[in-house]
Amino acid sequence: MAAGHAEARALQTALKLGVFEALARSDASADALAHALGCDARATGLLANAMVAMGLLAKSDGRFRLGEPARRYLLRSSPEYLGGMILFDEALWDVWGRLDKSVRSGRPARTPDMFQSRPEETFRFISAMDSLVRARGDACYLADNLDLGGVSRIMDVGGGPGTYVAAMLRRWPGMRGVICDLPATLAVARQILAEREPDVTDRIELVALDYRRDELPGPCDALFMSNIIHSEPPETNRMLMGKCFRALAACGRVIIKDHIMNAEMTEPRAGAIFSLYLLLTTHGRDYSLDEVRRWLEDAGFTAIRELAMKGGPFTSSLVVGEKP
Ligand SMILES: C[S@@+](CC[C@H](N)C(=O)[O-])C[C@H]1O[C@@H](n2cnc3c(N)ncnc32)[C@H](O)[C@@H]1O
Repeated sequence: MAAGHAEARALQTALKLGVFEALARSDASADALAHALGCDARATGLLANAMVAMGLLAKSDGRFRLGEPARRYLLRSSPEYLGGMILFDEALWDVWGRLDKSVRSGRPARTPDMFQSRPEETFRFISAMDSLVRARGDACYLADNLDLGGVSRIMDVGGGPGTYVAAMLRRWPGMRGVICDLPATLAVARQILAEREPDVTDRIELVALDYRRDELPGPCDALFMSNIIHSEPPETNRMLMGKCFRALAACGRVIIKDHIMNAEMTEPRAGAIFSLYLLLTTHGRDYSLDEVRRWLEDAGFTAIRELAMKGGPFTSSLVVGEKP
């Protein structure tokens, strides 16, 4: 546990320097790898050895080659590329280094701007969301397991790269989708959707708004919100549930996806750890089912229930509510 940062940093560095892409074409000695990367030969050998020890590279006769997990998750050409998320984590290294200051002060370690202030940060953030959801399979799981029959318009609030909406529209050909998000995020979403989802982009409307300030453009039959409430303080979430309620047509459904915590806020483990990232970068944290239920009930939703995401490496669950 205490030395976990070393392996994480070694992997982030290998990816950032291009170790895996360099080995995609052919295996290589440490000298050849270092030459391809423009790095020092002895140091590159040490980094590559560490990747072998971690099961990401293999080595024989002094030559390094990609292991299966690296081919699947660490090459940009793979549909399950996790590199976007890894590079986002890499960029947050210094922020994690200020955790003690945040715990002392209770304040974020960087401006909590949802990475909207600089285009390269927005791109890295939104690519990370896209990459994580593709690699872990959340969007495909929801498209396969949510019954969206009868939904003609689904709204994804804070839909980011559009990975969820695109998967849902692929599964439900008669449905249209709306992604509501901040302008800088939508600029990246437009690019990702055009490259990756040409078959469904004509059914997706992108609406620039700030959900803290603006009403949501209803009516829609289903409203999806993934990894949104955890970035906001309780009073914003309470207000947001009211906006969701007003944007839904009668008999519409709100579907919230997030780490839904136990009453002690200690399980799931991933959620308890993630709340520290949220301390560093937002004014939010992960919330318990009771907290989410109260906001939904106060907004007018009924039939509120938690749905588990079964199988797979999922760490989130769903909370669903209905508008009478
Ligand atoms: C953690 S990302 C989640 C993206 C996507 N829903 C997912 O689960 O992969 C949060 C998203 O909310 C958007 N967002 C944050 N604050 C917002 C606001 N005030 N109004 C609209 N969108 C916002 C961000 O731009 C980003 O796309």
